[in-house]
Amino acid sequence: MRDVEIRGKKTLITGAASGIGRATALAMAERGARLFITDINEEGLDDVRREIEARGGEVCLARALDVSDYDAFRKLADEIHAGFGPLDILASIAGVALFSQVEDMTHEQWKRVVDVNLWGPYHAIECFVPEMVRAGKGGHVLTVSSTAGIIGLPWHVVYAGTKHALVGSSEVLRYDLRKHDIGVTVVLPGAVNTGLVQTVVINADEDACERGRRIFSRHAMAPEKVARLIVEAIEKNRFMVITSPDIKLLYLLKRVFPPAYDLVMRFMTWSLDRVLTRNTCR
Ligand SMILES: NC(=O)c1ccc[n+]([C@@H]2O[C@H](COP(=O)([O-])OP(=O)(O)OC[C@H]3O[C@@H](n4cnc5c(N)ncnc54)[C@H](O)[C@@H]3O)[C@@H](O)[C@H]2O)c1
Repeated sequence: MRDVEIRGKKTLITGAASGIGRATALAMAERGARLFITDINEEGLDDVRREIEARGGEVCLARALDVSDYDAFRKLADEIHAGFGPLDILASIAGVALFSQVEDMTHEQWKRVVDVNLWGPYHAIECFVPEMVRAGKGGHVLTVSSTAGIIGLPWHVVYAGTKHALVGSSEVLRYDLRKHDIGVTVVLPGAVNTGLVQTVVINADEDACERGRRIFSRHAMAPEKVARLIVEAIEKNRFMVITSPDIKLLYLLKRVFPPAYDLVMRFMTWSLDRVLTRNTCR
């Protein structure tokens, strides 16, 4: 498999209005990609389009859509295929987060996380990858999962489920698409300072949420750093990108010394229970 040249490549990015998606769109534009950007937030998406164009980048299309809406995705794919042909690079980045104890979750909360975080990337793959395969020109499929895609983070029951599924499906695609010269990357960010810090739904009282957000932000890296790793992973065809060294270590521990991993996870769960103090404050 050769290195991927980004210049001139038709690249679709979901979740491009904010955070990692926005930073990735700017970084890919800087490398000369021809961009197709989407997000549910139309205003934010327009701002990013203007920002890219002001820096001399090329946005072929910016379209607001909900990634959980299959019909909207299919319509977008038909329009792109008719006007521009198959994509070269597909990057599914849009996502939402929910921190909760299982007994506090509503059905709507379960469903929203699955619809956006799992169906979103599946819709993208379903609508765009078959055309890439049929075109026979190779390419790249990238999905942003999370540390919660390899580690059973406390309070993440449904989020971790969707993110684990993305790692599993990416691994299958890695081998299935190899014969078509289509590379696959799954990105597992640790804490990143993005809009998600404010929009994450936390089923705890307001003070506890604020405390949680403050601690999270203190350990978070800039989205631009994640975007640099994403661009590099596409260029070098890297499969798994873990952005934080401590998570690399924890993942190693999980595989080579499960008893120590078990202790770390018990401690992490105890700590997060204390920070979000659900039993004392609700
Ligand atoms: N921020 C973190 O610490 C962190 C850590 C691990 C993984 N991630 C993952 O990174 C990805 C990007 O998140 P981010 O941190 O940049 O957050 P963000 O909130 O800044 O960006 C997410 C974007 O997705 C869009 N979006 C949300 N729901 C959508 C929908 N239904 N349809 C279309 N667009 C939708 C939002 O409008 C937003 O622009 C997510 O998949 C998230 O799970 C983030």
